Amino acid sequence: MKTIRWGILGAGRIARKFASDLRLAENCELIAIGSRTRQSAEEFNKEFSVQYCHYSYEELAQNPEVDVIYIATPHNLHYENTLLCLQHNKAVLCEKPFAMNRKQAIEMINLAKEKKVFLMEALWTKFHPHYIKTLEMIQQGLLGEIRSVLVNFGFKPIPPVPARLFDPELGGGTVMDIGIYNVFMAMSILGKPDHIEATMTPALTGVDEQCAILFRYKNGALAQLFSTFSSNLATEADISGTEGRIRLTSRFYEPSSTVEFYKERPDSKQVIPVHKEEGFGYQYEARHVNNCLRHSLTESNVVSFADTLLLMEILDEIRKIAGIHYPADEIW
Ligand SMILES: NC(=O)c1ccc[n+]([C@@H]2O[C@H](COP(=O)([O-])OP(=O)(O)OC[C@H]3O[C@@H](n4cnc5c(N)ncnc54)[C@H](OP(=O)(O)O)[C@@H]3O)[C@@H](O)[C@H]2O)c1
Repeated sequence: MKTIRWGILGAGRIARKFASDLRLAENCELIAIGSRTRQSAEEFNKEFSVQYCHYSYEELAQNPEVDVIYIATPHNLHYENTLLCLQHNKAVLCEKPFAMNRKQAIEMINLAKEKKVFLMEALWTKFHPHYIKTLEMIQQGLLGEIRSVLVNFGFKPIPPVPARLFDPELGGGTVMDIGIYNVFMAMSILGKPDHIEATMTPALTGVDEQCAILFRYKNGALAQLFSTFSSNLATEADISGTEGRIRLTSRFYEPSSTVEFYKERPDSKQVIPVHKEEGFGYQYEARHVNNCLRHSLTESNVVSFADTLLLMEILDEIRKIAGIHYPADEIW
């Protein structure tokens, strides 16, 4: 079996978690890091001992030994970093949000298609066993007809607060950083909303410090989604239907070893066990990318281009309604 050789672009917090989990995925290795600075690259190298330590993103993209690059930079850079890697015929796994808007996402996908190179949005939750089990139970009809999806995601950043959370240049604000998971969860279960309402509280920098979103569907189903950087919330998802309810407890977007299922009566809780591996949970998506590359695929069948574009389209729409603008936007 071919060993897939990974590079990471941007040596920040998530890069370290991903690098650590890559050790749990089979037949692949992390061989390169690309950083803006020598210091950042070397600090990363001390922790992960890679073969190639590049002091620029360009150098990493040009490394002929690297098969695939994981983009781990702030949101606003995903577009240009992905284009750089694709231009050098490197497969790409790009962190969420895939881009700042749908227009950028289309360009990224078009270049991948033109180059016939693999590209995928790193929507890691889609590969987690508790999420897969949830969808399976819904498809089996255990919840009946779904009537509501309630999701909240909130935390109060601990100082020193990372600049990217509030800086409009870096795509700051809750919707693009954490609200995206709420939107993804509602769309996984109810699909594209027929009507959207959204309102936000601006932070001093103008980006959304918190945002409340409502999706309405023709069949009467509703999704209520809330994200905040002002307070620590439960960060849970409740999916309710005519026959029962599923509750994904604390940090619904991370791997969990259980799915809570309530059949009709609220006191009838069943805890469904699911297998959760050690690690943070990035090895699942890494394995999927490895398999796609071994089969010479250029698009994932789990996180498809259509899925990514629809998510970007809905995020654009939410931002338009709530009044969340970025320098990267040319859509209005
Ligand atoms: N899937 C998940 O669970 C998850 C979790 C957290 C974050 N993320 C996503 O991952 C991305 C990175 O988040 P993070 O928390 O890892 O951010 P971070 O700790 O700030 O790291 C980002 C890295 O990007 C590089 N960079 C390039 N230009 C930069 C700039 N102008 N300002 C700051 N850093 C810059 C830096 O690496 P060098 O100096 O080495 O070039 C920096 O260390 C975000 O898009 C976020 O949405 C995903």
